[in-house]
Amino acid sequence: MEDGISALDVAEKVLLTWPREIAKPRVGLVRDWQRPPSWIKYGRFCQNNGLFHEFYEIHAYNWMEEAGRFDLIVGHPSGTPSRLDELWRKTYILERLLGKQCYPALDDLDMYEDKHMQFSVLRLLKFPVIPTWISYDERDALRLAATLKYPLVSKLITGAGAMGVAMIKSSAEAERFIRKVFSPHGCYRHWPYLRQKDYVLFQEFIPNDGYDVRVICVGDLAFGYYRRAASGDFRASGSGIYEKRELPEQVVHTAHRVAQALNAPYLSVDFLRNTVGEYLIIEIAHFNQIDTPEQLHVDGVPGAYMVDGDKPVRFVPGRFWVQELALKRVCERYIARRQQDGTQNMGCDWPQSVGRVPAS
Ligand SMILES: Nc1ncnc2c1ncn2[C@@H]1O[C@H](COP(=O)(O)OP(=O)(O)O)[C@@H](O)[C@H]1O
Ligand SMILES: [Mg+2]
Repeated sequence: MEDGISALDVAEKVLLTWPREIAKPRVGLVRDWQRPPSWIKYGRFCQNNGLFHEFYEIHAYNWMEEAGRFDLIVGHPSGTPSRLDELWRKTYILERLLGKQCYPALDDLDMYEDKHMQFSVLRLLKFPVIPTWISYDERDALRLAATLKYPLVSKLITGAGAMGVAMIKSSAEAERFIRKVFSPHGCYRHWPYLRQKDYVLFQEFIPNDGYDVRVICVGDLAFGYYRRAASGDFRASGSGIYEKRELPEQVVHTAHRVAQALNAPYLSVDFLRNTVGEYLIIEIAHFNQIDTPEQLHVDGVPGAYMVDGDKPVRFVPGRFWVQELALKRVCERYIARRQQDGTQNMGCDWPQSVGRVPAS
């Protein structure tokens, strides 16, 4: 862990001024399987800010008893449906019945890796989302398919790297697909253990310039980059082709407004630019695979945009682990809640010799 942490020191330390009257939380770190993992960055934040932290084995049979050791439970969740099911159940119990604060919180999990929820919520909040139709009724879906324009895009509710995203070229193809999805066995798509069954999610196909733009928002800082579709494919996500350069100012502002509206500690917002130059939201994510502390480059320089209302964004050079910035936001939320209830928790300062996360 010590070595792991010093290897992370290429990025700025993220420090939080802790109010004296609020006891620091005991942090339970849930290990993730990202390559590189996020828990190391959460651990570095805890270490630099004197927060007690130990691993929390949330997947083990005794997770409820073990939760008693912590006040704040933090981890980068897996986006696979089986793990999301587990985490939603456990977060509900941890937050609602055991009084813990969790990151991700239930509010984050409501939308993380759920394209149905994301579209519905963002549309209701009047953000510019790609026109989408979701039906859980076979006859309704067949009627819909007869009226839509082709090609259209079909998506799984949960999926990443474009694995659950396909183009449907004609109404006949859509009809065959709908019948299969609503058949007793559903339709095999991407997850080996989970078939697409009893819903379709169709989206207008947006002709575009071959790129999608991702804006990552953490508080008033924004980062981001472009991904380009490989030749012969319309899907930029999962192509592995990244370009880091200046982001259009208007998408930074829109993404920042989305993150604020959802009160998300971390949020990435992906956009496509249509042929008349409008940016439409494809999807949002409360967590992403983060490989480097350089999630934005402007003219080859790593840094972040500072967002201040509708004023022009300001570029500040630097290297940041966005996971640490997100955990700082989570801790600020923890402090605000404690100040609101005026109650003290059972947390403690982290003595230098205990509570260290062992080397992985
Ligand atoms: N409606 C659409 N029209 C055109 N291209 C799209 C549309 N939706 C997605 N794409 C392309 O497909 C890629 C994957 O779609 P996305 O919904 O982001 O799935 P995933 O969650 O797997 O990343 C996007 O990065 C984008 O390039
Ligand atoms: Mg995507």
